[in-house]
Amino acid sequence: MSEIARGLEGINVTATKLCRIDGQKGELVYAGYDIFDLAENSTFEEVCFLLWNNRLPTATEYAELDARLKSMRRMDPIVLNLLREMWPHVRPMRTLEIAVELAGALDPASSDLTLPTLRLTAERITAKMSTWIATYHRLRSGLEPIEPRDDLNHASNFLYMLTGEMPSDLHRRVFDVALILHVEHEMNASTFSAMVTGSTMSDMYSAIASAVGTLKGPLHGGANEAVYHTVEAIKEERNIPTYVEALLARGERVMGIGHRVYKTTDPRAIILERLGHQVAEGSPDRWYFDLSLKLRDYLGRKLAGKPLYPNVDFFSASVYKMLGIPADLYTPIFAMARIGGWTAHLLEQYADNRLVRPNALYQGEENREYVDIAAR
Ligand SMILES: CC(C)(COP(=O)(O)OP(=O)(O)OC[C@H]1O[C@@H](n2cnc3c(N)ncnc32)[C@H](O)[C@@H]1OP(=O)(O)O)[C@@H](O)C(=O)NCCC(=O)NCCS
Repeated sequence: MSEIARGLEGINVTATKLCRIDGQKGELVYAGYDIFDLAENSTFEEVCFLLWNNRLPTATEYAELDARLKSMRRMDPIVLNLLREMWPHVRPMRTLEIAVELAGALDPASSDLTLPTLRLTAERITAKMSTWIATYHRLRSGLEPIEPRDDLNHASNFLYMLTGEMPSDLHRRVFDVALILHVEHEMNASTFSAMVTGSTMSDMYSAIASAVGTLKGPLHGGANEAVYHTVEAIKEERNIPTYVEALLARGERVMGIGHRVYKTTDPRAIILERLGHQVAEGSPDRWYFDLSLKLRDYLGRKLAGKPLYPNVDFFSASVYKMLGIPADLYTPIFAMARIGGWTAHLLEQYADNRLVRPNALYQGEENREYVDIAAR
């Protein structure tokens, strides 16, 4: 075979029951449920159950999952010690990578790849990741970590552990929906990374560490933080044209715009924009959301004719800003949501594994004569 599928564009690497995307129509469906429906009615915990089980939970199953996640949220003292030592030297995404590997080292069941244990591992990493992120932020702010609260759901508890304050009902709900919007997205770079690692029958912790490292890059999960810096650098509406022209002239890309699959507006961006309007009411940071809207409108005119539209990162940046979340936590929060999808793909992978081992087309030299180093 002499063709190269650069970027694996258009290649199906597996079959999945988890997610379907129609990039032309702007459709995103988790296990048969439309994203608009889930964003309106569901919670992060419920969507995780859906992805892990391919059906929605009963009330009892929901309560049981909720209780298990709450019981798993607490920080292991060894991981806490590591975070205390590490935070001055390490940025948040690498902190997550290291914390997940350490959690794997501390879990005696980490190499048990049977389905019941893998499900518990998925729940455990999902529960703990939010605590790691909040704790990292507390420590670097010179504050003591806050214990998780068992009366709060996953989204509310994270905001509480981050700030020490009880979030408003609106902020809790908006953050919960943001987690739902980020939890799953069919095949993508980080999910594929997890899949490649899982396909060697390495354990779920290492597969998730691979995925976190992949999500870190600015062409994937790192784009939401980059959007924040773009809008902040623009500062005022009148600076938009000069800023964008200079950026494009340098051959750079506007972060939060464009998508490998969506050739229309990403449905997650539509939902986040709606939420943004709600959170902007009375927010001291609403200028940031308003400027994002102006930038979106300008780019719509400037890039007209090209299939380049806002993606999920474009509005998640301004929504998180208005929730008071620091910009360098946007990508870790993406991971904290996507953990549901990564682990669900891994459950599919482990249940029907095939080692991922593609080819590369050799285009190098042949028949070269080895010359001793002294004679070169
Ligand atoms: C996501 C992304 C990597 C997908 O890109 P892709 O499928 O590889 O698309 P291509 O690189 O083939 O780009 C196609 C064309 O659109 C342009 N383009 C793509 N994204 C662009 C952007 N954000 N700003 C300006 N131009 C962009 C490319 O320069 C290229 O133009 P050309 O045909 O004149 O050379 C790309 O859109 C991007 O870099 N976006 C910004 C980063 C981002 O928001 N990532 C988060 C994704 S959820």
